[in-house]
Amino acid sequence: MTHRTADRVDAAKTRALDSLDAARHRTLALTACLGDDELLAQHSPLMSPLVWDLAHVGNQEEIWLVRGVGGRAAMRPGLDGLYDAFEHPRAERPELPLLRPAEAREYIAAVRARTVDVLATVELTDAVLLRGAFIFHMTAQHEHQHGETMLATHQLREGPAVLSATGPAPVDAGDLPGEVYVEGGPFIMGTDRDDRALDNERPAHPVDVPAFWIDAAPVTCADFQHFIADGGYDEPRWWSPDGWEHRMEAGLTAPLFWEHEGELWMRRRFGRAEPVPGDEPVVHVCWYEADAYARWAGRRLPTEAEWEKAASWDAAGWARRYPWGDDEPDPERANLGQAFLEPAPAGSYPAGEAPCGARQMIGDVWEWTASDFAPYPGFRALPDEGYSAAHFDGRSKVLRGGSFATHPDAVRATFRNWDFPVRRQIFAGFRTARDAV
Ligand code: AVJ
Ligand code: FE
Repeated sequence: MTHRTADRVDAAKTRALDSLDAARHRTLALTACLGDDELLAQHSPLMSPLVWDLAHVGNQEEIWLVRGVGGRAAMRPGLDGLYDAFEHPRAERPELPLLRPAEAREYIAAVRARTVDVLATVELTDAVLLRGAFIFHMTAQHEHQHGETMLATHQLREGPAVLSATGPAPVDAGDLPGEVYVEGGPFIMGTDRDDRALDNERPAHPVDVPAFWIDAAPVTCADFQHFIADGGYDEPRWWSPDGWEHRMEAGLTAPLFWEHEGELWMRRRFGRAEPVPGDEPVVHVCWYEADAYARWAGRRLPTEAEWEKAASWDAAGWARRYPWGDDEPDPERANLGQAFLEPAPAGSYPAGEAPCGARQMIGDVWEWTASDFAPYPGFRALPDEGYSAAHFDGRSKVLRGGSFATHPDAVRATFRNWDFPVRRQIFAGFRTARDAV
């Protein structure tokens, strides 16, 4: 191995370990603030008890890294079934003989000690799982994703606040236009050059995207209130047939956590009630609500190809890792990582602007796109079908860009999240688009 290669391998290992550490720090913080009863309780049938997430991240790490890469024996035979998301839907998880909080903490610490050892000794060859420490980065991102899921459980939890919920200062969005133009023509979607990219982001492939206009910032709470005030929830013509059926069945009348108090819209956030802030991106709307709003506004949701082109394509014809370039996210450019527990006002983060002029593509709120979650041409499952391929069944819509709750290591312009079109507890909003004619 040359010196330079050795340096690169060391850098990849250090970076993977930093990401694993950061994820663990968050996992422990989100579970240290509640007593055992609350960790074992199911705060919503939509979510696992927090103690399930706590042990699940360690069990997944044991499977992928300690056993998968390290070739070691199972540490606690019998655990895999309990923590397999496919075997037990969330609603069933409280009834399982789960590890108690103290046992779970001990177990995941024991796994992590072995992971550190495996990482130190493994030879990072060019094999697809090892190159650039990919599978270690994927494991860190998996735990980061559960850090966001656990935060959503906190949001659904009733009772007094245990997390402090400060937000970024309001900014003057200046003369930000309502929408920005993206030229037509092919661009490179997905990536081959990022060892941290997950299977569904690969391979890079050209996609021809006709010219379009896209909102310069996400749709705000004030915008959404106009839709409500205009009777948007009572007008079937704005909704897709499935969306209308769901709106009726679920009795949707406003975003999740909103309540009408006289003239005023209030919302509950992490255990506190507050007036809905008009200038913030709307959050906790499902895909059907986003789709209906867009139709009411005479617009549509962007496809995920449009979203990625707007977020990453620069005039020189290169795909950037982030809207602002290839540098890692920082607090000047994006609201990520649970630094604040809410989105920043729409139009914030001029330093994070994309080449087309769109802001907040990364951070603040996940953005629903028009697209179904499906494989790119040439897709290859990593490390197996469980992570992405099992969800290529046409039931999920793609979300892009990460939210205030997403760790910076777990999002980039090519990153693809997905969920069912009825989901509202995730930190999702949207922006709209239209064809350029
Ligand atoms: C990518 C957020 C849709 O939480 O369902 C976590 C990520 N997969 N454990 C999810 C995931 C397995 C996944 N999402
Ligand atoms: Fe998981």
